[in-house]
Amino acid sequence: MIDPRFDTHLDEVRSRPRGIKWGRGGPDVLAAWVADMDFAIAEPIRQAVIGMWEISDIGYSLRANRLGPVLAERGSKLWGWDLDPELVVPTADVLQGVWNNIYVHSDLGDGIAMQTPIYYPFLKAVTDTKRSLVDNPLLTTDESWALDIDGLRAVIDDRTKILLLCNPHNPSGRAFTIAELEALAEVVAERDLIVISDEIHADLVFPGATHTCFATLPGMNERTVTVTSATKAFNLAGIRTAVAVFGTPALKETWDKTSSFLLGHVNTPGVEATIAAWEDPGAQEWLEGLMVQLEANRDRLVRFIDDLPGVEIRSPDATYLSWIDCRALPIQGSPAEYFLEHAGLDFSDGQAFGTNGPGHVRLNFATGPSILELILERFGNAVAALG
Ligand SMILES: Cc1ncc(COP(=O)(O)O)c(C=O)c1O
Repeated sequence: MIDPRFDTHLDEVRSRPRGIKWGRGGPDVLAAWVADMDFAIAEPIRQAVIGMWEISDIGYSLRANRLGPVLAERGSKLWGWDLDPELVVPTADVLQGVWNNIYVHSDLGDGIAMQTPIYYPFLKAVTDTKRSLVDNPLLTTDESWALDIDGLRAVIDDRTKILLLCNPHNPSGRAFTIAELEALAEVVAERDLIVISDEIHADLVFPGATHTCFATLPGMNERTVTVTSATKAFNLAGIRTAVAVFGTPALKETWDKTSSFLLGHVNTPGVEATIAAWEDPGAQEWLEGLMVQLEANRDRLVRFIDDLPGVEIRSPDATYLSWIDCRALPIQGSPAEYFLEHAGLDFSDGQAFGTNGPGHVRLNFATGPSILELILERFGNAVAALG
C-alpha cells in the first residue's frame, strides 16, 4: 500500500507553478533533474509557516539562535555528533557556506580536493574563487563506488588546502563507510587539510548503510566545517536557510572575518521551517515515511535499469539521486539532450559533474510512484528506439 502522503500524481506537480523543476520543461516534459522532491511537505512544517503569516509574525527573527541547540540535540541523537551550539552559524544556503569557507580558509591558487563526478556547483566553487581543482575520481566497483585513497595521496600537493567532501555523495548516492572515512581522515591529518563536509543528504540514508558525520572521526572536529540544512530531506529548497557548523572557535573566527552584512541575515520563515523540521516529532515521522517510499522507488528504478540493455546503474545507498551510465548506448553527444529531445525526459546532464561525468545522466527518483512509472516507460521506449 502506498502511503498517500507520497502518492503524488502528475496533475498535482503540474499545478504548482513556482518551481524550476517542473517549470522549465513545459507541459510535455517529465522532470527528474534538480534535487527537489515532488511530495507535499510535512504537516508540522506547513503549520509552522502558515501560523506565522496568519498572525503577521514575520519581523526580524528572534529565533535564529535556536538553530544551534536544535541541531545539537538532533545530531547527537541521530549520529552521535556532539557539536557546540555556539559554533553554529546560519547561512543563506549550503553553497554560501561552501563558497565563503573556501574564501576564508584558503588563498588564490590553492588546491581544493574532491571526489568526482561531483555535484557540479563544487566545481564552480573552485573556478569562481580562483582556486585549483585537485581531482580525486571515485573508483567503480562491481556494485558501487569507492574512495581512491592512494589516488588522493598522489594528487595532493603543498598547495592543497581543503578537502571539499560530499558526505553522502551526490551524484553517486554513496554513504561512505566509517572505514573509508577513517582512511580519508588519515590523509587529511597527514596533509594538514581543512575539511568542508557537505552533509545536506545525511537524513536520506537507506537501511543497510549509515551516515557518519566527518567531524565525529578522531582528530577531525578541529579541522572540519560541516555545512548542512533541512532543505533536501524535508523538501524545502526555496526557504534559503542553512547552517555552517565549526569544529572549533578558531575555525569560526576565521569565518567571522567576513561581515554578516555581506552574507545577509536569516529568513524568518526559513528559520521556523527548519526548527519544525529538525525538532518536531511529526516531521521525523514524515521523514521515516518518506524513506520507505524512496527505498521502494529506488528498488523499482534499479530493477528496471538492470533489465535495460546498454544502461547501467549502481544502487544508491543514500539520497534520491541516481547516477546512470549510458555510455554503451549508440547516442552521439549528450544522453541528457537525447532523452530530453526524444522522450521529453529532463535529467541532469552528467557532463557538468566533472571527471567520468560525460555519458551519464542523473535521475531524481523523489516522486510519486505513478510519475516514476511514466518516466521509466518513456526511458525504456527511448532506449529501445536506439535499436
Ligand atoms: C550536495 C549538495 N549540496 C548543496 C546543495 C544545495 O544546497 P543549497 O540550496 O542550500 O545551497 C545540494 C542541492 O541539491 C546538494 O545536493
